[in-house]
Amino acid sequence: MHPGLADRWNRHCDSIERALLASLPECGDCPPRLREAMEYSLMAGGKRLRPVLTLFACEACGGTAAEAIPAACALEMVHTYSLIHDDLPAMDDDDLRRGRPTNHKQFGEALAILAGDALLTRAFEIVAAGVRPADVAAACCADLAAAAGAAGMVGGQVADLEAEDLAPSGDQDVDGRHLVAIHRRKTGALIACAASLGGRVAGINEETRLSLAAFGRNVGLAFQIADDLLDRTGDRDRMGKGVGKDAALGKLTYPGLYGVEESRRKAAALVDAACSAVEPLGPAGEPLTALARFVLERDH
Ligand code: IPE
Ligand code: IPE
Ligand code: MG
Ligand code: MG
Ligand code: MG
Repeated sequence: MHPGLADRWNRHCDSIERALLASLPECGDCPPRLREAMEYSLMAGGKRLRPVLTLFACEACGGTAAEAIPAACALEMVHTYSLIHDDLPAMDDDDLRRGRPTNHKQFGEALAILAGDALLTRAFEIVAAGVRPADVAAACCADLAAAAGAAGMVGGQVADLEAEDLAPSGDQDVDGRHLVAIHRRKTGALIACAASLGGRVAGINEETRLSLAAFGRNVGLAFQIADDLLDRTGDRDRMGKGVGKDAALGKLTYPGLYGVEESRRKAAALVDAACSAVEPLGPAGEPLTALARFVLERDH
């Protein structure tokens, strides 16, 4: 990671980690074991790319990182819930996540499902209560619900699972369009939402909203291409999760369809497009372009 980016990233990560811990429910009526399961996955590390992106986007649009913290925490909670459920035996059936046994390995399937549910609902509580003014909070809730829901992440996860049982059409263009549609929803939608919520909190105009949306859309797809590549070429210890799982499960992936080199080229073109989209922001957009470049270079 570029040293300038690493400094900013680490500084933002510290405040995100503190805010995430504070955002977990107090025990009171919340069963202690449920809170433990929520905290286990939420506070297990992770790059925090989505909340950092929310803070960068807010700052690039003239807002402060502090005012974007509730939206950033909400994104990370929804993302963490998606990982807990993604790892379940009924889905990708993984045993390692963020360098730890997966949530269901540690707490059992029932609690893992419910910890995911509780993180998802808590995210909306945090946006509704923490984002100001109220009309911006409502818009953020609507964006987050759309990105996480049936036409976003959940829909993409369904299409990802369905594709395991589907024979390739033999036509690379047809399979390629199907693959883009999966990746844009299962991963791209939440990443794009992270950028757009940062902009909303800063009170951006329509023109900047469109720039950020194009940025998020391109980075989001590039991010999942990089994830597919790392599943082939990455290191389990460095990644903190299993590798080589996609081929074993018969997933539709970029390297599976296009090979490693062409996948890298496609991801690089998307990152270039993302960087061009935020050029109108000038120097204020530099952390966003550095983050986009990191998506390609990352090894975890
Ligand atoms: C992993 O996301 C799942 C995908 C959507 C590809 P990350 O690579 O951001 O995982 P963490 O948050 O760093 O653990
Ligand atoms: C997961 O994609 C996308 C989510 C919505 C969590 P993957 O199944 O490829 O993510 P990893 O490789 O298990 O992290
Ligand atoms: Mg999956
Ligand atoms: Mg998975
Ligand atoms: Mg993967």
